[in-house]
Amino acid sequence: MNGNNRPEQWGTRLGFILATMGSAVGLGNVWRFPTTVVRNGGGAFIAVYLLIILAVGVPIMIAELALGRASQRNVVATYGALGPGGRWRFAGTVSLTTAFIILSFYAVIAGWTFVYLLASASGDLAGRSPEALERTFAALTTRPLVAVPATAAFMAATVAVVSGGITRGIERVNWVLMPAIVVLLTILAVRALLLPGGVAGAVWLLTPRPELVTLRVGLEALGQVFFSFSLGMGAVLTYGSYLPRTANIPQSAIMVSLADLGVALLSALIVIPALFSFGIEPGVGPGLLFVTLPSVFQAMPGADVWSTLFFAMLGAAALSSSVSMLEVVVAHVVDERGLDRMTASVVVGGGAFLVSLPSALSGAALATADFVASSVLLPVGGLLTVLFVGWVWGARTARAEVELGAAGTWLLGVWTVLIRYVIPLAIAYVFVSGIRG
Ligand code: TRP
Repeated sequence: MNGNNRPEQWGTRLGFILATMGSAVGLGNVWRFPTTVVRNGGGAFIAVYLLIILAVGVPIMIAELALGRASQRNVVATYGALGPGGRWRFAGTVSLTTAFIILSFYAVIAGWTFVYLLASASGDLAGRSPEALERTFAALTTRPLVAVPATAAFMAATVAVVSGGITRGIERVNWVLMPAIVVLLTILAVRALLLPGGVAGAVWLLTPRPELVTLRVGLEALGQVFFSFSLGMGAVLTYGSYLPRTANIPQSAIMVSLADLGVALLSALIVIPALFSFGIEPGVGPGLLFVTLPSVFQAMPGADVWSTLFFAMLGAAALSSSVSMLEVVVAHVVDERGLDRMTASVVVGGGAFLVSLPSALSGAALATADFVASSVLLPVGGLLTVLFVGWVWGARTARAEVELGAAGTWLLGVWTVLIRYVIPLAIAYVFVSGIRG
């Protein structure tokens, strides 16, 4: 039934893995992870995070890749084709909507990254006090003449990559961006650890404090894994739909997960030692990246160089993620509306830009979009994914799909139990207790 391979597939195995790593590695790692760690007691959070990666992150990533590869279609058509009578298409529509909303506010934050990159490189930030930097950032959200063009520029870059197609657009860009991100992060982390007092920050980060583990920590860890692993909105599923049958899905999922975890830890090893060294309380939210860190850079010798490297890295990480969100919707429009890829990318990217305007003009609108998408729609999308794979498409069919290209092992038996019982119950529990506050 689902034999018609797509005309376009990933050029190479490593290209696919780099692109999926690119989707996962983004603002979520560099900004959201360090703040979440700080809020939840450092080492205590890391232990829970590792557990949730193993029990939830890797299994759902495997499930999404298997779904996409089995159907070779966009997310809506995947749920339609693999479920009875097309009745599950709504689950795909939820994913598509989430992708579109996340793209809209993600592009605003990424646009700020472009602004700070230019300001650092041109020496415009040089010598600004923390208070001045605070005003600089506040001005961004009240001065539409900067934030809106910056959002437009970032969206245009995303459209340019996606319109190039899978191999010549998305894959090619990630061959460049991913190694660049890892090199820049490593340089920055070494620099941060060498700051006076930097090592104390690292020790705080890595010291387990089991007494701080609460339900709330579990909840935050679950949300963070969804966001950081790009799960629950069809991005990994769509990338999986361009995979050949011979690809080893579990191995790919493990490599991507390790890379994402590694980048999150490296980012925390930049941010937290730097904060410790300068005795700064980490700001929560985007203020961490756009006020606190620039203040730290300005207090270091060679401020403009470090600041430029950091924002270049951040922009690269954001771009490799945003292309995966746009691709979810573009793949759907290309498959089902018969538009060519170029037109589809421009139309969807243009639409996402319009929807991003409230977020570009108001921090409150951005926070609302983030809450609705990240705290409500992502867990719902994740829950629908595991229920569909475990009970509708069927764990047995799913397992057979995973075993194509991968040796069967007893671990896949564990995977089945996780997908059918453990993960749905965990998400439902965490979701309900989260909503109740
Ligand atoms: N994972 C990316 C980050 O960490 C963001 C992202 C890309 C995403 N695709 C996604 C988040 C899909 C949720 C769902 O910044």
